[in-house]
Amino acid sequence: MTDSPLAAQTTGRSRRGRTAIFANAKGGVGKSTLALMMSLGLATRNPNSDVELIDLDSQATSSDSLKRFANHRFTVMNDDNLFLASGSPNNGNIINHIESEPAHKGSRKFIVFDSPAGNEPGRSSFLLHCDVIFVPTSVSDADIFATRKYLISLQQLFQRQRKDYDNKIPLVIILPNLVDSRAEFNELRQALDDCPAYIGQPLYYSPLFRKAFRAEDDDGNVRALLRSNDTYIQWLTKTLTQLDQLNPNPEKLFQL
Ligand SMILES: Nc1ncnc2c1ncn2[C@@H]1O[C@H](COP(=O)(O)OP(=O)(O)OP(=O)(O)O)[C@@H](O)[C@H]1O
Ligand SMILES: [Mg+2]
Repeated sequence: MTDSPLAAQTTGRSRRGRTAIFANAKGGVGKSTLALMMSLGLATRNPNSDVELIDLDSQATSSDSLKRFANHRFTVMNDDNLFLASGSPNNGNIINHIESEPAHKGSRKFIVFDSPAGNEPGRSSFLLHCDVIFVPTSVSDADIFATRKYLISLQQLFQRQRKDYDNKIPLVIILPNLVDSRAEFNELRQALDDCPAYIGQPLYYSPLFRKAFRAEDDDGNVRALLRSNDTYIQWLTKTLTQLDQLNPNPEKLFQL
């Protein structure tokens, strides 16, 4: 992270661990892929932490594929109690879960949510209990348009609920994904320049990602993916562990 504005206030939620969600109303932008990279990255880089991946998508792409890595420090969860019959999130149950999960003694707890496309912030008040909302987007016009719309809905949720939450709102970090070139990344930054959010490092297009959710016998696909994206995963996990250094309310787009 370079020249980040120092936090005027911290989120104040670090005592009960740290909660991140990968979300965008748009489908196919990399929410599940990035949730996989974050959760496996945290688990492998922080041996003294408890990492929980919670899949809020009934398609269960990430939970089905990641449960084979589960152990006493890495939990994978896809629980019907976290949804309503309509498929919308069950805000009460999700909030209870976030707020009540203690870490094992002496270890740090991370909760990573993967979420489905189409989730409306207006119906997702649990978002206010997350420390950070990562919003993946590609550089296509359709994704940029949908992402802008999603960011506006998030701001509306924050404004409506801010007073109930003691002004503690989650950080919003846009994650450029499926990027082809630096020039394309710069185009995306220009297109989102007026958004009051952070923008992360670009994740470039690579055919390796197409095999990310496949269960291979020796997990060679996942190992190759983690290895070839080592620098990016290091940046991503560090952003989460050092979140307190960021001002929760950037006035316009700020590059991390
Ligand atoms: N950087 C990348 N390079 C190449 N392919 C990618 C990259 N990131 C994601 N993909 C591929 O794009 C597709 C969509 O990714 P993913 O499933 O993570 O998106 P999603 O936002 O979770 O989608 P959904 O809304 O359907 O849940 C997948 O086939 C994935 O393998
Ligand atoms: Mg997904």
